[in-house]
Order: sequence, then C-alpha cells, then structure tokens
Amino acid sequence: MTNWKPTSWQDRPTDHQPVYVDLKALDAAVDTVSQLPPLVSSWEIEALKTQLGEAASGKRFLLQAGDCAERFADCRPEHITGQLKVLLQMSLVLVHSTKRRAIRVGRIAGQYAKPRSSNDETVDGVTLPSYRGDLVNDIAFEESARIPNPDRIVQGFERSAMTINFIRALIDGGFADLHHPEYWDLGFVEHSPRASEYQAIVESIAESLRFMETLAGESIGAIDRVEFFTSHEGLHLHYEQAQTRQVPRRVGWYNLSCHFPWIGARTVAVDGGHVEFFRGIQNPIGVKIGTHDVEIEKLLDVLHPDNELGRMTLIHRYGVDRVTDELPKLIEAVQATGKQVLFVCDPMHGNTKKTESGIKTRSFDDILGELESSIEIHKQMHSTLGGVHVEVCGQNVTECTGGARGLDESGLGDLYETLVDPRLNYEQSIELALLVGQKLG
Ligand code: PEP
Ligand code: CO
Repeated sequence: MTNWKPTSWQDRPTDHQPVYVDLKALDAAVDTVSQLPPLVSSWEIEALKTQLGEAASGKRFLLQAGDCAERFADCRPEHITGQLKVLLQMSLVLVHSTKRRAIRVGRIAGQYAKPRSSNDETVDGVTLPSYRGDLVNDIAFEESARIPNPDRIVQGFERSAMTINFIRALIDGGFADLHHPEYWDLGFVEHSPRASEYQAIVESIAESLRFMETLAGESIGAIDRVEFFTSHEGLHLHYEQAQTRQVPRRVGWYNLSCHFPWIGARTVAVDGGHVEFFRGIQNPIGVKIGTHDVEIEKLLDVLHPDNELGRMTLIHRYGVDRVTDELPKLIEAVQATGKQVLFVCDPMHGNTKKTESGIKTRSFDDILGELESSIEIHKQMHSTLGGVHVEVCGQNVTECTGGARGLDESGLGDLYETLVDPRLNYEQSIELALLVGQKLG
C-alpha cells in the first residue's frame, strides 16, 4: 500500500483524541508499547478473517460482546471469568438454535478508550476535561485525575496483556469443555425464570456429545476447546499505532493489539484520521453505522477496495425507532457496490435513554425489538444478518430495564456499575440469546 504508514493518520483531522500536555511523555509511552511483544498473532487474525467471511455468507454467526468500557480496576479474575462465561453461554445458546458455528469475540483486553459527546464536563461551576476511558484519564472529578496521562497507554496495554493471558489459560485449561456441562450452568441465576430453558439446551448438547462419542468409540477432539478473539474500538490512535507492525513472511501491516478493531459511529469520516489508519491494516475491521449520512460507497472504496472476504463488517446501530427506515437504505447502498460485507446488529447504542432522574439506561424490549426487526429486514432483502454486537456483564448488574424479572427504573440504583453505557446483566444476556436464537433458528 502506497503512502501509508502507522502514523499517516496524524496528517488528517482526527476526532476524539485526548490532548496531552507532555508530548515527550506521550512519545515515550508509544515507544514503550511499540517494543513490547504483541497480544495476538497474524495467524489468529487471518483465521478470524476467514471465519468472518463464512459468517457473511450465513455459515457462521458472530457474537461480539463485553463491557462498554473496561476499567483498569476490572482487570481481576472474577470479572474476566464472568465476562468469558456469559459470552460462552450466549454462544452456546445461539449455536444450538441457529445450527451455525459461532465466532466468539470479546469487547475485552483493550476496550479502554471512549468517545465523548463533549470535551469537558461541568459540575457545580467547575469545568474539567471529560472522562475518556481508563486508557486516557481517571473518572474521579478532580483536576489531577482528568488530565490525560500518557502513562495510562502503557498501563492499558499491560492490563490487556494480563487479561488475554488469563483468557488463554482458562480456555486451554478446559474452562469451556463441553464434556463438563456443570461448568456451563447458570450459577447464581439458577432461579431465573429462564434457567430451565437454558439447562435443557446444555443437557441436550451434553447428551448428543455422549451419544456421538459412544458411536465413535472415542472422545471427540476439539470439543474441549473453543476459539476466542478480542476486539475494541480503535479510537485512541496513538495506542493503535504503537502495536501496528509488519510480520515476517506476510505482506502489509497488522495491528497486533487485538484481532478485530472497529471504528466507532462518531469517527467514520472518510477523510478523517480513523479511516486513514484503518485502511492500512490487514486485520478484519468493523465500522459502526448509526446515521444516514455515512458515505457507504466511498467508505468501502477506501476500507474495502479489494472486496477481500471477511475483511469488512458493518455494525448497524440505528435504534428500534429508526431501524425500519434506515436499514433497508444501508443494505441497498451496500448491494449497489457489489461488495460482500458481514452485517452485524448492535441493538444497544441506538437505544440509550435517560430516566427522569438522569440515569442512562436501555430497555430490554427495545434491544430485542431492534434485533428482531433487523433479522426480518435482512431476510426480506435477501441479505444476511451474520452477528450481534452487545454490551453485557457477567454479574447481575442493574443497568438495563426489563427482561424476565421485569427490572424497572426504580431498581436501576441497586448495582449500577458501568462508567459509560448500560449493559445487559447476566440473566438478561442469556435471555436475549434464547429469544434471538428462536427468531434466527
Ligand atoms: C460503543 O461501542 O461503546 C460505542 C461508543 O458505540 P458507537 O460508536 O456505536 O456509538
Ligand atoms: Co457503549
């Protein structure tokens, strides 16, 4: 690729970047990260790309899920296992109902930078820079906490490394081994109204497995392991640039900070820094689409020029009220280019609301509604919905309303932990997978 290098985005207008005061410290941090070993390999990245290509044609299904914003404080075994468990369980339900192989991608091990609608925040007459994620600053409303600190770039990378290291160890150790359905039980939500439905799925999978193994007379390999990939919004471009390198025996540049970075809905300008950065990397990439004025044809010209299978995922997030009007136009615009993309629905980010008391929330019914409409619209237009992108938490937080337990606004205060957007809790996540699975199956 001509005229591209990991830093060429710096010549473009680039939104949502922190303003660092100490540029020497910024350079030093980027330099440190650029010399550390990568978090993922180009082999894994290429394997994921192949699988995403299969999802685009309906042979697989992508589940991309995790926190809205990871916190440094959440780099703890309980949180990581909780996130891995809810993702694996949702994928199990989806595999069972869709009969498509799942691709599991976490919003994890690097989801530390956030776009914000305003550069600063005013409380009681005091104005400070906005919180932009733990990769940039601290949420505490104090001047010293809010000033962007380049050391956090290194700290974020280190925590990402610890997170992915633990995930790899869990998976290698049999955390997701289907021979042991007891690992797959619902734990503390066993009294959930939907627990028996889930339990029946796990039992039927375990039963089929025993049957197959009896027939074959041996243990079926590859059932004790699942594949798991990482993703985050490629927002903070100094961070992304630092781990972008060439690897032996391959052509081009790889962003080795995760397998699957995506461009957020606020940074899709065709001539902006983010699109410039992403056009030069070989990873499969996602682009969030939430407004109607995105120039799809130009965007695909720049980011998906060769129509490489699996390269391009469009994650639409219009909201339940707009999806019926907007999604057909998006599908048409893509179909007009003749290029193949993987369509994924993010039913979270178009459905964020504030309660009267100012708490950010989302309703389970809106989330399910946008997903159901999307499935329907793709079907009608001979297109394929190949995945879902959701914000979930493995604990029973109270951030989204609704679900089988009927959480209402008055219950939101009980365990509201997210620093940015509200996530589905453990029970709501499994319930969503059950309901969406039925619709897709
Ligand atoms: C997000 O994924 O947390 C996010 C900010 O989404 P979007 O770019 O779609 O608004
Ligand atoms: Co979010």
